[in-house]
Order: sequence, then structure tokens, then C-alpha cells
Amino acid sequence: MKTSAFLASLGWLLSVTAAPASPTIEANLPGSTANVAGLHAVARQAGKLYLGTATDNPELTTTAYTAILDNNQMFGQITAANSMKWDATEPQRGVFTFTNGDVIANLAQRNGQLLRGHNCVWHQQLPSWVTAGNFNAATLTSIIQTHCSTLVGHYKGRVRTWDVVNEPLNDDGSFRQDVFFNTLGQGYIATALRAAKAADPNAKVYINDFNIEGLGAKATAMKNLIRSLKSQGVPIDGVGLQSHFIVGEVPTTLVQNMQEFAALGVEVAITELDVRMTLPETAALLAQQKKDFQTVVAACQAVPQCVGITIWDFTDRFSFVPSTFPGQGAATPWDENLVRKPAFDGIVAGF
Ligand code: G3I
Repeated sequence: MKTSAFLASLGWLLSVTAAPASPTIEANLPGSTANVAGLHAVARQAGKLYLGTATDNPELTTTAYTAILDNNQMFGQITAANSMKWDATEPQRGVFTFTNGDVIANLAQRNGQLLRGHNCVWHQQLPSWVTAGNFNAATLTSIIQTHCSTLVGHYKGRVRTWDVVNEPLNDDGSFRQDVFFNTLGQGYIATALRAAKAADPNAKVYINDFNIEGLGAKATAMKNLIRSLKSQGVPIDGVGLQSHFIVGEVPTTLVQNMQEFAALGVEVAITELDVRMTLPETAALLAQQKKDFQTVVAACQAVPQCVGITIWDFTDRFSFVPSTFPGQGAATPWDENLVRKPAFDGIVAGF
């Protein structure tokens, strides 16, 4: 068939198979994403388990936002950005509150979306009773066990994957000096993983970190940690590559790095993807951002053990970036007004 005839029939096929029912001229152009059912649908077609997003409770009152969030063709997986963290779930010792976490879990269940638990043990968003308690090693071990097993146990059967340990490493590959490491050494990691696995044996247990997406000292240290855990028989099913990137600075070694993790016998996931820029955004920056999203998705696509991709919230309106990196933002595939940006097309093109 001639190219023009092929494109014409492709346009017809799209027009009769996909919503919206009345295709635009743009929708018939090669490379257009106007007619894709959603990012998750594209990821599934490409053989991945999911494409998902983080979300947070205060955002759920914005109906233009939830209309996109609740579309399980767009997002097949949800992570609670804050409401399953330690300060939210055990604000006082032994007092557990799951109200906000349950809202997110119920939303995912209602929509038929996979749920990622985030997280059991992290140095941030800890209540002061943990950081300032001056606990001895035995007591802190028991506190970690109680927290992880109660949290993971509460969501037993509903969570596919838990970020059990979040951000245990410094950029130079050494262990982060936080209350857990300072009291227990690296043994706290095994304690948390064992407690989580025991509480929900069917959930995949992960370690999640940033700046381990490309080859380097931190990624090497994470590989050594995984090797060491495995050699001790500690449960470790996967590694989360957070992937908070900067426009034009996506590492060039994503694929090799993921392959090296996979060779250790763990799965890999992109868990918190966004690509920030120095504001104001320009057409050139948005075009580079599109390429960057495409590069990251294509890297996951190239590695069979990369199971899925989570965006760290899908709209610039609710991105964490501007408050954490003043002067930067526009890091997600939908703008402040919930209009798709070129980055959306980049994700589709990456699969
Ligand atoms: O809950 C309080 C609220 O009571 C108060 O009125 C309000 C005023 O600022 O703050 C609220 O807490 C904020 C919390 O999000 C909930 O909205 C914190 O100030 C704010 O710092 C916190 O930010 C979160 C951040 O983790 C904390 O480090 C972001 O939303 C969340 O997206 C971000 O997520 C992390 C991942 O968990 C781990 N990887 C990095 C990623 C980005 O930092």
C-alpha cells in the first residue's frame, strides 16, 4: 500500500476505534497522540505492567484533576505522595491513622488501578517521637518492626509493591546518617524488609532512591547493597529509580544501569518521574522535555525487568518541584490548567 493510502486508512481506523468519536485533522497525522486511549493503555500494549501517577488527598477536590486521575486507561497505578508516610500513619507511638491512606487505596481499588505503598522507613516526614526519642538499638528495631508490619499489614492484599526503604544512600554511595542508620547501622534495612514481607508475603518489597538512575557511585552502592541483602536471604524484590530529572540532563546510561540491576535478580521500576526546568518555560525547553520523557520511557521499554513507570503527579499544578527547587518547575506532562504538554507525546513515543 502507498504511504498516503496507508495513512488514510490508519486515520479511518483511529476514527472508528477510539474516543473522541469525531476525529480532528490533527488526530489523523502520524505521531499524533490525540486519539490514544491513555498512557496506561499504551504502556500495556507495549508489554509493561502499568503507567501510573502519584496523587495526594488535598488534590482530590479538583474535579478537572480527578477526571484524568480516575481514568484507568490513562493511569493504571497510583502512589500516595504523602498519606502513607510515617508522620501520617503513626503520628504517636503505637497510634495508627490510615484515614488519608485509605482514601487513596479506595480510589485505586474503585478505579481498578494498582497501588504502590510509599513508604515504611525514610529519613523525612518522621514524627519527632521517632527522631528525638533517643531509643536504644533494641527499642528502635522493635519500633521499625511494629511500624512496617502494621502499615503493610493494614493494606495486605491491596498493594502490589511497597517502597519499604526510601533513600538510604548518600550521593557518594555511603549510607545516609539518619536516626535509623546512626542507631542500628545498615541492619535497619533488613529489619524493615523482613517485617514488610512477613506482613504481606505477596507484596513486592523495594528499596527506592534518587540519583541511582545512571551508572555512578550511588548506583554501584545500591547494587552492592542488593547483593549483600540477597546473600543474607533478606527479601528484596526490586529497586525503585525515582527519576527526578532536569531538562537536558537525563543520564545516558539508563539502560545499562537497569540491566545491571536486573542481573542481580530484582525487578526495576521508574517510581517518581518528572523532568524539571528553570522557569519560565519556553518552547525549546518543552521540546527538550518531550525528548527527555521519551528517553526515559524508551529505556524502561528496552529492559524487560523494568515493570512500569510512575509520574510524580501528572500536572504542574500539583508538582512538588516549585516548593522544593525555587525558580524551577513545569516538570510534568500536564500544565497548570490540566492541558497536555509535548511531554505527553514524548511518553507515548517512548513506548
Ligand atoms: O501536612 C502539612 C500541612 O498540615 C501544612 O498545612 C502544610 C503547609 O506547608 O504542609 C503540609 O505538609 C507538606 C506535605 O508535603 C503534605 O502536603 C510539607 O510541608 C511538604 O514538605 C510535603 O512535601 C512532600 C515531600 O515529599 C516531603 O519531602 C511532597 O508533597 C512529596 O511529593 C514529596 O515526595 C518525595 C517522595 O516521598 C520521596 N522522593 C522525593 C519526593 C519529592 O521530594
